[in-house]
Amino acid sequence: MDIREFVEANSAEFGASLREWLTIPSVSADPARHGDVRRSAQWLAAYLRKTGFPVAEVWETRGLPAVYAHWPAADPSAPRVLVYGHHDVQPAELADGWDFDPFEPTLRQGKLYGRGASDDKGQVLFHALGLRACMAAAASAAPPVSVTMLIEGEEESGSPNFAELLTDRKDQLLPDVIVISDTTMWAADVPSICLGTRGLVDAEITVTGPSRDLHSGSFGGGVPNPVHALAALLAGLHDADGRVTLPGFYDDVVPLSDTERELLARLPFSEKEWLSDAGDSGAAYGEAGYTTLERIWARPTAEVNGIWGGHTGPGPKTIIPARAHAKVSFRLVADQEPAAVIAALRTYISSFTPNGLVASVTAGHGVRPCHSAIDSPAVAAARRAMQRAFGREVLFTREGGSGPEADLADILGAPLAFVAVGLDADRIHAPNEYVDLSRLLRGAETAAYLWEELAAAGAGR
Ligand code: BES
Ligand code: MN
Ligand code: MN
Repeated sequence: MDIREFVEANSAEFGASLREWLTIPSVSADPARHGDVRRSAQWLAAYLRKTGFPVAEVWETRGLPAVYAHWPAADPSAPRVLVYGHHDVQPAELADGWDFDPFEPTLRQGKLYGRGASDDKGQVLFHALGLRACMAAAASAAPPVSVTMLIEGEEESGSPNFAELLTDRKDQLLPDVIVISDTTMWAADVPSICLGTRGLVDAEITVTGPSRDLHSGSFGGGVPNPVHALAALLAGLHDADGRVTLPGFYDDVVPLSDTERELLARLPFSEKEWLSDAGDSGAAYGEAGYTTLERIWARPTAEVNGIWGGHTGPGPKTIIPARAHAKVSFRLVADQEPAAVIAALRTYISSFTPNGLVASVTAGHGVRPCHSAIDSPAVAAARRAMQRAFGREVLFTREGGSGPEADLADILGAPLAFVAVGLDADRIHAPNEYVDLSRLLRGAETAAYLWEELAAAGAGR
């Protein structure tokens, strides 16, 4: 039986297992669901053991557990490959606008609807099927490369304990190549490999003025208004060219190479369709001098996520509010550091806060951006594997979203190769998240070919 035949022959079992896993609401952001995150880890470890992994265990952290599974190659000198994914999911409630219960996975015309179907349980599970397919096709009891799966349980909460887990367990992991299975490809009929993810850091800004709300008749015009000051600070985050004004913000940004710009320009991009996917946004907008894809993938951003303060209830209330608040976040690109961006934000805020007001910044811990070299042997092997599974030329993309990829690469000291079959249309983080089962099966095939390609390439380094 060849790889494709094995994958097709096991598709019903694969779909049924994924559905079972998707019933577990492993929402890491919700303390009430932490028992379910633990249950999800147990489910996965048991499933991987059942499918043949000689080792599959739950790895505790200070927070929620990861799953570690290992299947050694027959040849102890074969390359060691680590697959990263996550088993926690975003929150989801029927009332958010789902057509089905988000944790009662529903199959309609080959599409499986449910929270985590694409991000990321479906993309974790296809690796288990791909590995079995690879061994079945080779009639071998062990894979051609040593395969480790490390499936995190706190990715959707910013991976607060993952770097520590990697550092503690480094000696057990030591991969030659890290395969990331938590991103997207360009389109169902346009396979592609991602070359990097953006980093992310968030902060809350509070501007404080008088010790209480003031009557705007008695005091208005005489003291600074915290809401005005905050609005001006936020408006000043960008200049007229759409560039972020924080001091030194672009200093560590690795510019896009001409090669990468040419590759991105080859993607069949329709701005009209993209705007419709972008919630029917009225026009594209952003930093001058860059295309839309360059802006969302390879350029950093500053976004105001929310702003509040003063009177927002019914009717007028003529006050100068005592306080104003905003939440902001920054998407970062290699080699920007979250801590340096927060330091620049503090400098900016303190230099431009009007006399008589006090501004404070509380920051999240952030994740770093990453970028893999286009000419890396691991990327080349991934590209050949995807080409074999999809039978089409594989293009290159980047990803605007974020994860702990930079920690994986730096702490474990190995190159990254992104192999994923998600689509931007999968509605990840939104109501009616879904995945096409047929796409996951192509993912399983890609994974199977990838083990062959990496074994043939020797190390992939
Ligand atoms: N899988 C996503 C990252 C992603 C987003 C890939 C969009 C492809 C397209 C990941 O699970 C995610 O949601 N990351 C968060 C990170 C945050 C919670 C630290 C993000 O990007 O907002
Ligand atoms: Mn994800
Ligand atoms: Mn996600």
